[in-house]
Amino acid sequence: MTYDQIITNGTVVTAKGKQRADVALTGEKITAIGNGLAKKAPAARIIDATGKFVLPGLLDVHVHLEMPFMGAISADDWNTGTRAAARGGVTTVIDFAIPQGTQTLEQAHQTWLAKAKDKACIDYAWHSVITNWDRHGPEMAAMVALGCPTFKEFMIYKAEGLESDDRALFNALEACHKLNAMLLVHAESARVLDELVARHHTPALMAKYGARLHAMTRPNFIEAEAIARVIKWSEVTGGQLYIVHMSTRDGAKLVRDAQQRGVPVVAETCVQYLVLDDSKFARPDGHLFACCPQIKKKKDQERLWKGLDRGEVSVVSTDTCTFNRTQKGLWNGDWTKIPMGLPGVETMLPLLYTHGVLQGRISLRQLVEKCAANPAKLMGLWGRKGNLAPGFDADIVIIDPKKKIAVDHATMETNADWNPYQGWKLAGFAENTFSRGRQIVDDYKFIGQNGWGQWLPRKQAGKL
Ligand code: URP
Ligand code: ZN
Ligand code: ZN
Repeated sequence: MTYDQIITNGTVVTAKGKQRADVALTGEKITAIGNGLAKKAPAARIIDATGKFVLPGLLDVHVHLEMPFMGAISADDWNTGTRAAARGGVTTVIDFAIPQGTQTLEQAHQTWLAKAKDKACIDYAWHSVITNWDRHGPEMAAMVALGCPTFKEFMIYKAEGLESDDRALFNALEACHKLNAMLLVHAESARVLDELVARHHTPALMAKYGARLHAMTRPNFIEAEAIARVIKWSEVTGGQLYIVHMSTRDGAKLVRDAQQRGVPVVAETCVQYLVLDDSKFARPDGHLFACCPQIKKKKDQERLWKGLDRGEVSVVSTDTCTFNRTQKGLWNGDWTKIPMGLPGVETMLPLLYTHGVLQGRISLRQLVEKCAANPAKLMGLWGRKGNLAPGFDADIVIIDPKKKIAVDHATMETNADWNPYQGWKLAGFAENTFSRGRQIVDDYKFIGQNGWGQWLPRKQAGKL
């Protein structure tokens, strides 16, 4: 076996543990992990990783690039979004293909392929969003056969044409059970949420509380009731359920209890729910921080960290859905009009490394498990993505544990003209990133190529 490139002397970290070893690459694949590999391949390019951690490229399985939403289109497109990902050590993103109007799931898939093809700098896939059960349900088997075994339903967003009712959730979970597929669910309780929003939607309250109304109208039970209900549909149908962006301590408890009863449910949280809290809404620019679900309380953060450590939270993602200051300005004092979402894919690894690993909340092995191995397994990409082992794609990130960089939107790849973590000093940005053997970040700078990324057909989903 000839090796083209060898990353030497680093500490290699996978979901199984750490070891001092070299990693050899041949073309787009990893071909060996071991010691003294450079001696066997004198012609290979050597990348010295002494003192550094060598990790599998992360997967961010929840992003919304150039997503039409709330009267705007999210500001990171398939180019800036994937450049930002690369700089954050993320080598695979999974977006959501949303049928527009009367489009089929297959047509939405083709639309998303056309958007990503010439722009994406890293590999990608998407979950198929079911917006109309009667039209999209019968298509699920064909989508699985096409390589798209993950589906998404939203329990809110009626005005956006996205809301699914209990019938759609129940039916989709039943279909997932038959097809070895998985249903991702945005769980918030639409009717009570709408009621709370209506009660507060007065000029007087908006003048008094501003963006704080976002948090005031979404108490934890809005998420908890919806999670409990959809867990019940998973329990009775046997359909594999994946709760996206879980943000509350109440949700974590429900998922843990359900898992202990044997219900096929897993949960994802997002970095913002681990490191931000709702005091941000009191800032003069607090409306910028509106995402959905909204950032919660410190107690919720601590419970979610605990859930990561104990296991009921299987995945960390970002829900990247970037809106710039002008787009956020659409709110004009009315919190219900703020385009909801945050930039995030560029800062996931450094935030988790600095606030998780360095603060002793999770180990680096667990970080790799939650952001590489588990997402790859659950999304049907294991064998190619999420690990450092022979036969896997050479998607690799090298981080220097000593190098701290201050977050500054002005120097970042994301298209955001603000950042929720502006000024935070973080270790763990990607010093080097490789995507299928090609170096795309060198010395913290993006050097990749538009269109390098490939769409990833996937097999069976939902198994850890
Ligand atoms: O605020 C968010 N998360 N925007 C994107 C839509 C969603 O619910 O994920
Ligand atoms: Zn959502
Ligand atoms: Zn989302």
